[in-house]
Amino acid sequence: MSNVDSQRRVLSGMRPTGRLHLGHLHGVLQSWTRLQHEYECFFSIVDWHALTTEYDEVGQIRRYVRDMAVDWLAVGVSPSAATLFIQSQVPEHAELHLLLSMICPLSWLERVPTYKELQERLSHKDLSTYGFLGYPLLQAADILVYRAGLVPVGSDQLAHVEFARDVARRFNHLYGGEVDFEDKAEAAIGRLGKKTARLYSSLRKAWQEQGDDEALETARALLKEQQSLTLGDRERLFGYLEGSSRVLLPEPQTLVGHAPRMPGLDGQKMSKSHGNTLSLRETPAEVEEKISRMPTDPARVRRSDPGEPENCPVWQWHLIYSDASCRQWVQEGCRSAGIGCLDCKRPVIEAINQELAPIQQRATEYEENPELVRSILAEGAERAREAARETLVEVRQAMGLAYR
Ligand code: TRP
Ligand code: SF4
Repeated sequence: MSNVDSQRRVLSGMRPTGRLHLGHLHGVLQSWTRLQHEYECFFSIVDWHALTTEYDEVGQIRRYVRDMAVDWLAVGVSPSAATLFIQSQVPEHAELHLLLSMICPLSWLERVPTYKELQERLSHKDLSTYGFLGYPLLQAADILVYRAGLVPVGSDQLAHVEFARDVARRFNHLYGGEVDFEDKAEAAIGRLGKKTARLYSSLRKAWQEQGDDEALETARALLKEQQSLTLGDRERLFGYLEGSSRVLLPEPQTLVGHAPRMPGLDGQKMSKSHGNTLSLRETPAEVEEKISRMPTDPARVRRSDPGEPENCPVWQWHLIYSDASCRQWVQEGCRSAGIGCLDCKRPVIEAINQELAPIQQRATEYEENPELVRSILAEGAERAREAARETLVEVRQAMGLAYR
């Protein structure tokens, strides 16, 4: 498998569907800015993924893409350390998506949990489209086209990365076999005994053709029971179940950050769909206003009523932004009604504004220089294409499409 060190390659992506907020900053972006110095990182603005759900509102995409690029740069994702690019400017993602679609069982797509969930959550839209069903496969192509071994994402994306692993495994199985691997494996099946051989073959087929996990488990258990197999045959038959000896597309792993969950303005997880976000471009006055309006412990009706931080969404923000002495001041002041809720919110407002000030200053600089942003993205796309092309040469060849 060429000269790519997959274990050092990182790919991640974000859908341009609106302004970035503090949840993105504390969740994923801060981990990216660390990873970019340790790994070869590709970060993609996945505009095709935005289209899977926003195909009827395309007027905003362009602005969201630009805003996202500016926000990434402003928080410190660095074009000299990482490759930043727009997905649709690297058409190799689409080609790999198409090629993988030939081998991706429909049932695998239909059972990805986000498929039904999102369709229900966005029931005002018609998402019974080919593109939306293929969302996870496009994501798999995003990752596999760089043979990236590591994918830093939030826990909501675990199922998608697992899906990408399944697709890679199936691809390797179908196209990565060694010249005589199959003959040897078939010969080993012949040595299993008629009944066992038949069972093994049908389980293997059920796994490979329908993605039936249970069949895979049963087949493995069956192999473990076979006392008389030689070690070589055993390894072949285990390998033959899942694939092959050559790994053309390595299976990616998730890198789940250990960042604490970022609460929203209402104490739920911060997320656009909850309408409880604080964007990275909020002015100091807007921050002050939004935090001031945050609900507090419902038991504190009057200033003189004592409260309990554990029952208050503001406390969760102190856990992110405040040091030990400030937290102690909050706990004592709240429980004794010694401080008012507005006093309590003051340090949070200040901490957020302090965090956002340098980000916003850099954002303004990039905003005033759109040509620079454009060229960063163009260069990023060029670099990304180079890496993606290498993979596609091998993939085309493996799939019988090498015409030179
Ligand atoms: N599905 C991801 C999300 O909604 C975005 C995404 C698309 C992605 N392609 C990716 C993330 C590849 C990681 C790797 O957040
Ligand atoms: Fe919440 Fe602080 Fe008010 Fe206590 S004092 S209820 S922690 S905002």
